[in-house]
Formats: sequence, C-alpha cells, structure tokens
Amino acid sequence: MSAETVITFDDVDVVFKEKKKEAVHAVDHVSLDVNRGDIYGIVGYSGAGKSTLVRLINLLQRPTSGSVTVLGDDMASLSASELRDKRRKIGMIFQHFNLMASRTIADNVAFPLRGIKSKAEIKQKVAELLDLVGLSDRADAYPAELSGGQKQRVGIARALASDPEVLISDEATSALDPKTTVSILNLLKELNTKLGLTIVLITHQMEAVKQICSRVAVMEAGAVIERGSLLDIFAHPQQPLTKDFIDTTMQLDSTLETIAKQPAVQNLGPNERLIRLTYLGDSTDQPIIATLFAKYQVTANILFADIQSLQDTPFGNLIVVLTGEAANIDTALQFLKDEGVTVTAVQIPGGKK
Ligand SMILES: Nc1ncnc2c1ncn2[C@@H]1O[C@H](COP(=O)(O)OP(=O)(O)O)[C@@H](O)[C@H]1O
Ligand SMILES: [Mg+2]
Repeated sequence: MSAETVITFDDVDVVFKEKKKEAVHAVDHVSLDVNRGDIYGIVGYSGAGKSTLVRLINLLQRPTSGSVTVLGDDMASLSASELRDKRRKIGMIFQHFNLMASRTIADNVAFPLRGIKSKAEIKQKVAELLDLVGLSDRADAYPAELSGGQKQRVGIARALASDPEVLISDEATSALDPKTTVSILNLLKELNTKLGLTIVLITHQMEAVKQICSRVAVMEAGAVIERGSLLDIFAHPQQPLTKDFIDTTMQLDSTLETIAKQPAVQNLGPNERLIRLTYLGDSTDQPIIATLFAKYQVTANILFADIQSLQDTPFGNLIVVLTGEAANIDTALQFLKDEGVTVTAVQIPGGKK
C-alpha cells in the first residue's frame, strides 16, 4: 500500500524584505512530503525557519515562490471561503497555548465551533474533547487555574474541535518541564493512533522527536539539510548539526567533559584507543565486548553507555577504551563495522589526540 501524501512543499521559498534591512531567506528551496498518519518532526535551532515553514501549511504565510499543497489543493489557489474550510482541517497548537484568559476551559474549546454547530452539538463535542485530553473535571475552570500541561491539553482539545486531519505543533512542549513534556507527547501519539491524525511536530528538542516521530527533517538557515526515517537519522546521521542534535539526547557534551578528566583517557598508551560505538537493533544482541576479547584479545573498558529505545528498537552508544595490539584493534574494529556498528574515534575536547 503506498502512502497518501497530505502535505507537499514543492520548492518553497519565503523571503522577508523590510525597508532598510537585509532580506531574510527564512525558507530556502524546501521540498518535503508529509504522508497520512506520519508524525513528522522538524527540528532546528531558533531562527532556522521552522515556524515560517509550518505557517505555509495553513497559508498564514504565503510562499514567495514555490507551492504548498494540502489535502489535494494548492493553498495559494483557494478562494477565501475555500481557505476557511481548508483551515478547519488543519489544527495548530503553540508554545504559549494562546488561551483566552477570561473564558472557561469549556468556552475556550468551544470557540472554533461558534456559529457552525448548534448549542447542544457544541456542548456534546466539548465534553468529548475534554474527555479525550483528560480534562473532563476542569470544564468550568479558567486558564489561570491550570498547570502548563493542562493548558496545553486545552490547546489540543481546541485544535481538534473542527475534526482536523492535520495537527501542527509549533514548540508545543517547549515551555513545559520534562515530565509534562513526556505526557503531552504521549497524548499526541495516542491521538495519532486513535484518530489517524497526521502531526507535524516543530521543535528544537531532539528528545521530543525521538519520543514520538516516525520521520524527521533537520532545518538550518531556512533549508532542510537532512531528512529520513527516525531510525535512519539516528543510526546514520550525515550532517554535523544532525549529529549534535542526536548527541543532546544522551547529554554527550557533559559526558565527554567528564570522560576527558579521567587519567586513563588523558594518558592513553600506544596500545589504547578511545572509540565510540553506535548501534541499532540487532547488533545489540551481539555480545560485542565479549567477542572482542575472545576473537581479537582486545579488552574494552566502558566509560559511558547509553541505550535508548527508538520506536521499540534499541539504540546504543558506548564510549570505550580499547586495549590490545594495534593490528588486533584494527581487525576488531573492522569486525564491528561488518556487524553494522558505527565506529568513531573520539576526540577529547581540548585534549591531545
Ligand atoms: N514576519 C517576519 N518578518 C521578517 N522576518 C521574519 C518574520 N518572521 C520570521 N522572520 C525571520 O525569519 C527567520 C526564521 O524565523 P522562524 O521561522 O520564526 O524560525 P524558527 O521558528 O525556526 O525559530 C528568522 O531570521 C526570523 O527573524
Ligand atoms: Mg519558531
């Protein structure tokens, strides 16, 4: 079964040109497909162009050139009333929730439905939505009475009021603590599964992408510099920025600093090498370390180990000092590569090689 494309960016450019200022190329020749049922992560640092890119989906932002097709229609070609209908198919949630402070939770969620459904229908729908996001008991509360996580649940319920097919999440978890972030991401994943909702998840947190996304694109200076399935991107990142983002999910920066201070690492002998091993899935089942000694008489001193789960597939990173005859180490590393393990020599920050 081939996947149905719900959003297509075709060579899209957005250039902001203000008087007396240099033009900003916020979106730079982006072509991208999002399929039905995807949770598509778009990750990049602040200013990369992520928000501008997703605002093209509901035509809050017009492309300077290129086209954006959503659910079969070129957005720029729609009449005002067609655009209004189309936007109802595209929900959006934000970092700062954008709730109306003077209205109750129920009224906030009901807001997009005013004038479209009867009072009774709205009441029914709001009750369903609040149940869906786990806030049935807070219908009469005001936003100020809720925690950040609860406010985002209201934002999600409101975004789902018009039964959208696509949900855009623009840094929706960036103002939340880690535990609340996990619960909101789990809710998005649940909605994706239960409702078949297609989600575009904009974030600067690779951790969020790792938790729920099926596909990832990395943005830098307006351009998509790398893309792929979650597993491919984590297992074989090509761009330095992608590698940096992945390393943030295991706090590798601070880990390397700690490792660098260890005497064993500062005074590596001629028969020792500091190596990072990265593996996905099946390789994990191999008793790698034991094999290195049994077959090549190379011992491994593990300085750091991190095993995470990516879509239920183990993803492992080890930093080890390998000790053995130089030739044996070389053969051992080749064996690891043949087993599908990525082998990287570790450079110690500030240290000699
Ligand atoms: N309306 C606008 N007018 C001028 N420049 C803008 C506008 N919106 C965004 N930009 C610029 O476009 C670039 C990308 O911004 P944005 O899409 O908000 O990035 P991100 O969401 O990744 O942080 C930034 O340099 C930003 O300053
Ligand atoms: Mg943004």
